Order: sequence, then C-alpha cells, then structure tokens
Amino acid sequence: MAFSPRFLDEVKNRIGLAEVVGRRVRLIKKGREHSGLCPFHNEKTPSFTVNEDKGFYHCFGCGEHGSVFDFVMKTDNLSFPEAVERLANEAGMEIPVETPEERQRQERAKGLYEVIEAATVYFEKLLRMPEGKAALDYLLNRGISEASIKHFRIGFAADNRGGLKAALSRQGISDQLMIEAGLLIQPDDPSREPYDRFRGRVIFPITDRRGRMIAFGGRILGDGEPKYLNSPETPLFHKGFNLYAMSQSIDSIRKSNFIIVCEGYTDVISMHQAGFSQTVAPLGTALTEDQLKVMWRISKNIYLCFDGDTAGQKAMNRVVDRALPIFEEGQQLSFMLLPKGEDPDELIKKYGNEFIQKLLNEALPLSKWLWNRVKTANYLTHQERSATENNIRTSLQPIKNQNVRNTLQNELTSQLWDYLKKKSASTKNQKTTKKREQINTQLEMKSGVSAQIDAIWIQQAILVGTIINHPDLFDALGEQLGSLEFKAPELDKLRQEVLNTLASSPGLDFQALQDHLNTTGFSELMNGLLSRQVINHANFARPDEHTDVTRKGWEQTLRLFRRNQLLEEIRVVEEELAENPTQEAFELLKALKQTATQKEDAEEYLSNFDSAKSA
Ligand code: UTP
Ligand code: MN
Repeated sequence: MAFSPRFLDEVKNRIGLAEVVGRRVRLIKKGREHSGLCPFHNEKTPSFTVNEDKGFYHCFGCGEHGSVFDFVMKTDNLSFPEAVERLANEAGMEIPVETPEERQRQERAKGLYEVIEAATVYFEKLLRMPEGKAALDYLLNRGISEASIKHFRIGFAADNRGGLKAALSRQGISDQLMIEAGLLIQPDDPSREPYDRFRGRVIFPITDRRGRMIAFGGRILGDGEPKYLNSPETPLFHKGFNLYAMSQSIDSIRKSNFIIVCEGYTDVISMHQAGFSQTVAPLGTALTEDQLKVMWRISKNIYLCFDGDTAGQKAMNRVVDRALPIFEEGQQLSFMLLPKGEDPDELIKKYGNEFIQKLLNEALPLSKWLWNRVKTANYLTHQERSATENNIRTSLQPIKNQNVRNTLQNELTSQLWDYLKKKSASTKNQKTTKKREQINTQLEMKSGVSAQIDAIWIQQAILVGTIINHPDLFDALGEQLGSLEFKAPELDKLRQEVLNTLASSPGLDFQALQDHLNTTGFSELMNGLLSRQVINHANFARPDEHTDVTRKGWEQTLRLFRRNQLLEEIRVVEEELAENPTQEAFELLKALKQTATQKEDAEEYLSNFDSAKSA
C-alpha cells in the first residue's frame, strides 16, 4: 500500500524518533542531538546519533542511516508497511484508505502550507497599512513589543468580506484551496460566494512544531463576540494536537528542560517577552492527552500556569484527569498558582518578571495538588481520616503505571500525616510555638551528632516496633504514631515507612509487613537493635501478646515518651535561660513546667513498666 507523504509526516510528528530509538539504545542528550552505542555494529564508544529535528539517525561508525520507519524495520525485522502500521497504531492514528479522491486531496494539502504562508504575509502587511493602524496601536498599548510582533508574525484582517480572498486570488490561489485552508467560509447555499473568515481582527498565526504556518487565531479589537476566532480543523491544523508558539519555544524548552503552559495567546507572548520563552498554550480547547504526550516527549517537566480563577482551577483539574492514565516514571506536572483574578499577561504588567520566577520556584508538584483534591474539610476524627485515605486510593486508581501510582500513594500518605501533625501542633500554645520550633531544631542537631541509645531512643523503638508486631493496631493507634516525630532519623524513617505501608495496604499482616520492611532497607535496624530493645523492654509488644494488652502497653509508652520529651525540652530551655535570660524563654519554661505537672500520671506507668519487665 502506498502511504501519502502527509500521513507519514504526521506519524513522524507524533512519534518522537528519540523515543523509539531510546527503547533500544541508551541515549544521552547533547544539545539538539542524542547519542549512544550503535545497535547495528559492535562498539565501545558512541558514534550513533539521533537528530530529532531532522528526523533521522546516523552512525558515524558503520554508516547506518534512516528515519524512524527504517529503524523499526531493521531492529524489529519488519517490512515498511508493517513498520508504518505499528507506529501509526502507537500514535493512535487510522491508516487512511487510498482512494483516488484521497490522493487528490493529499496533493492539494501540499499546497495548503503555501496558502497559509501567503495569508500570513498578507495579514502582516495589512497591520502596517493605514487600515491596520488601530490594530497596531491596540497591540502596542497592550504592551506587545515591535520585536514580538515580528517574532510571532502578528497581523491584521480588515473588517470586510473579501480582502484576503482578492489578494490571494491575484496570486493564483483557488477559492477551493482557501476554503480547505480554513481562510474562507462557504455559505450553505452553494450559489453564494465564499467570503473571508477573519474580519476586523488582530491575527495570531499558528505554526506547527517545525515553524510552518498552519492556522490562525483572530482577536476582536476591543469588546465583542466571540473574543477569539480560530481556524477550523484542516488537513494541517489539529486543535487537539498542535500548541501555540511551540516552534518559537522548542529551543528554549530543550535548553532549560522545562515547559510552561498558559491558557491564552497573549499570555504566551507576554511570557516570552518576560524571558520565559519556553511557554506554549493550547488552541481554544482544553489541553488534550495528545498535547501532553507531545510536550513530555520534548521535556519531562511541564508547568501549568493557568488563570487564577475558578475556570483556571477547573481547567488544571481537567489536565490532571487526562494526565493520570498516561503518567510515566520521570514525568512531572507542576502547578503555578496565580493570585486570584490574574492571568500571566496582567501579572507580568503589574508585578514584573520576577513574580513569574517566584511562581515557578513555588510551583506545587502533582502530589501537593492531588492532596488538596483528596482531603476532606475537617478530618481530625478517625472517620474523616479514613475518608481521606479512601480518597487517596480512588483518586490514584486511574494511574496505569504502577511505580508512579505507588510513589504518589506514599507521598499523599505522608502529606496526611504531616497535616495531622501540624493540626495537633497548632492547637498547642500559639504563643510559644515559635520558641518550641527553635528548641526542636536544637534537639535535632544534638541527636544528629550523637545517635546514642538512650531512654528516649528505646521508647521510640518500642512505639514503632509494637505496630510492626501488631499491624492490626494501626487503625486505633496509627493516627497517634503519625502525629509524633522521632528525633533519631533512622527510626523516624522506619516510622514513616510503616505508616505509609499500612495506610496504602490495609489488612497487611505482621509477616508481610516485616518482609516489606526487610526489602526496603530496614532489615538491619529491624533484626538488630530494634527487636532486642523491644523484646528486652516491652513484653506487651510481642506478636503473640493479646491485642488489648499490647494496646495498653503502647499507650503507656507513648505517655512516658511524651513526658521524657517534655523533660528534655525543659532541660534545654533551662540551659538557655541561664545563658540568655529573655522574657520569651521564661514564658516558655513556665508553660512547659505547667504541662509537666499535669502529666504526673505518667509516673504511675513507670512502676507498671518495671514490673512488666521483670515478669
Ligand atoms: P482568555 O479569554 O483568557 O484570553 O482565553 P486571553 O488570552 O487572556 O485574551 P486577552 O488577554 O483578553 O486578549 C484564553 C484562550 O482561550 C481561547 C483563546 O485561545 C484564548 O487565548 N479562546 C478564548 C477562544 O478560542 N475563543 C474565545 O472566544 C475566547
Ligand atoms: Mn488575558
């Protein structure tokens, strides 16, 4: 079967060459090229290169050379039609049936690029004519520079029905071709004359990724409906596939290795002017799966920079829904959060370029964005916590890649515990919170240098070891364990892993949990110190102990642990007070001592604890 050049071109456009080659060859990116060890001959140093822009690979060692189709034919031992079919399938494209009409249409498509290019030149010229004066003033008043007008080839369509048609007719272009290019509208009544689609509008030309003109977006001058009018779907222009300004952004994207997506044409232009020339936008529709794939092939890091209103928020959520099923390892989706009611264009005008950099630095990763979606309003109670855990599980269900799903599951579970911890901390004395944080940092630094085995360490080991031996207590005690923070880093890591694991796989038994921890780098800690400490000091923690007894013992240990922590804090504050007697430190000491006396009941536990040990 003969494939049309346009079809083959489209397949190449959709399937990245480096992506296909990268499945066979470990490629390293060097500027515009990738290089690696040649799969067609034996070599120790790489002489095999892939040029994505030009669409071919070449080996300087053995001379092998070809397109993505050649590569698949050679490596998978396929015929040309088989290779095309496989890659087209992968790109989600139908193989066109070769009818004579289809062939004729393809022939004409070749001319479409030239038609759009001619129209672009016409619109550009008109912007510089007296009729275009208002449009030019409008652009300049909006802060679009002369340089941008040239760079993006912005133009103007006058408010009449036949200006473009007449100009292109004089160049020998048929009405039929202009209709097919989306430039003319043919009225339903075929006896009536076709007329210009774009009238009285500023014209933003749209290119494909290689920079060829393919379509237009036209903005009305001032108010009016519709605000933007775009070219219809044509053989060259696919709204759901092309992106505005991709050709002007691609170098910058490759250099910086990230890509920013805004909602509108003017946002993109402002962003480029502000130095963020890796910015693109969809074309009057919501961002599609195809567009996400196209972008991820060029850079793994996509930043969404949508308007700071509910529509923008909703649009970003729609992107998330489309992205989750196709997420692969290493890909990133981050969210720049704009102030209420602002779009990037206005933001830059009001606050300058630095503000965008700040938004970029502070962009939320996907896990944080999802966290805001899954958390229920107030969930300090047990039920509300479970509801959030359920939300986490169901929200991640659409992710097909299991590693991506597991990673996000862990990140979201950590967020949950962090949240609970903060919430419980914020209910404590507000006034002394800041001071406490300082003290905690001091304690952390101390325990960092000497990871000694002291009473507090043992208590921490018991608190986490008990839950490992009795995962069935996770429902009752997990929240409390999650709200703690262990100063010993290795124990705190173990604590988090236990919590994440049990939250993501409810009902896991003791043996399965141990196996998991042994394979995730905790075996030394688990089998050495931890098990000895737990067994020597706390009989109640043993796996064969009755759950009620274990739970009582754990709760008593927690009280003792809190008390010890408190005493340690008091000691540090007293030391500090001796050195530097501030009112603030004094207040804190008073508050801490007050809490301590309320906790006398912990003393009672000490005796129980000792008698349990000797039993
Ligand atoms: P906006 O209304 O946010 O446009 O639509 P904007 O870019 O901020 O426009 P200005 O600053 O008022 O000129 C965002 C994008 O949605 C598409 C366009 O692609 C636009 O850039 N759109 C909007 C349409 O296709 N048609 C419309 O009528 C409106
Ligand atoms: Mn705007």
